Amino acid sequence: MYAGESRKRPVTVASLAKMKAAGDKIACLTAYDYSFAAVTDAAGVDVILVGDSLGMTMQGRETTLSVTMEDLIYHARCVAAARPRALLMVDMPFMSHATVDDALRNGARMMKEAGAQMIKLEGGREQVEAVSRLSGAGVPVCAHLGLQPQSVHKLGGYRVQGKDAAAADAMVSDARALAEAGADMILLECVPATVAARVTQEVSVPVIGIGAGADTDGQILVLQDILGITPGKTPKFSHDFMDDAETIQGAVEAYVSAVREGRFPLPEHTF
Ligand code: KIV
Repeated sequence: MYAGESRKRPVTVASLAKMKAAGDKIACLTAYDYSFAAVTDAAGVDVILVGDSLGMTMQGRETTLSVTMEDLIYHARCVAAARPRALLMVDMPFMSHATVDDALRNGARMMKEAGAQMIKLEGGREQVEAVSRLSGAGVPVCAHLGLQPQSVHKLGGYRVQGKDAAAADAMVSDARALAEAGADMILLECVPATVAARVTQEVSVPVIGIGAGADTDGQILVLQDILGITPGKTPKFSHDFMDDAETIQGAVEAYVSAVREGRFPLPEHTF
């Protein structure tokens, strides 16, 4: 019913770069199936992420660690069936890019089997070679820095990252190294707004944030959080956009315009 309705041009890596250059905020959101992909796309999001957060939102798990390539490919194909105008970004699951060979093999599967237009992988400078090889092979990559949920047990919990000067400097330099290696986008999760602002200024590629303050080039949130259907508490960095909306599409449109107009995130969503 929704497929093909949008008459606007598809979002591409090049158009995201132009948005950064023009200072136009990028609005990104997760989706995991055809119907919600169609609704979020009709609401005007720029990037749909099929995130490994599906471990929680779709499978009811406590972490993302058990999510497989097959899970992500299945959900990405469902989203791709909506033929969104938004760019389709798909997560690389835990340990799927532990070696450069793994990254190339699994990155190729995401492009060929899942319909990904960009892959996202967690990790800092240790991913530079994988990013460089993927990029050289024509695979657009988003590098996920800051809180990396796949390392939750190593980190000892879901904690804000980059709080002290050394960690902040390391994050800025990792972001620079990944962008120089060919990453087309950087995602920052749960980092102090001041650090996210530094990263955004220092790299030429778009930087999107979740819990990273208002000074990034764009924002990304989890669909279930903005619809207020995540069991338990909405995370500090998110907002229930159903509060003032009558429909799901209305809530997503409210999120998109709040991002575009700089009304989200507010200081209360920021670390
Ligand atoms: O998997 C996911 O949904 C993510 C977001 C937290 C950005 O990586």
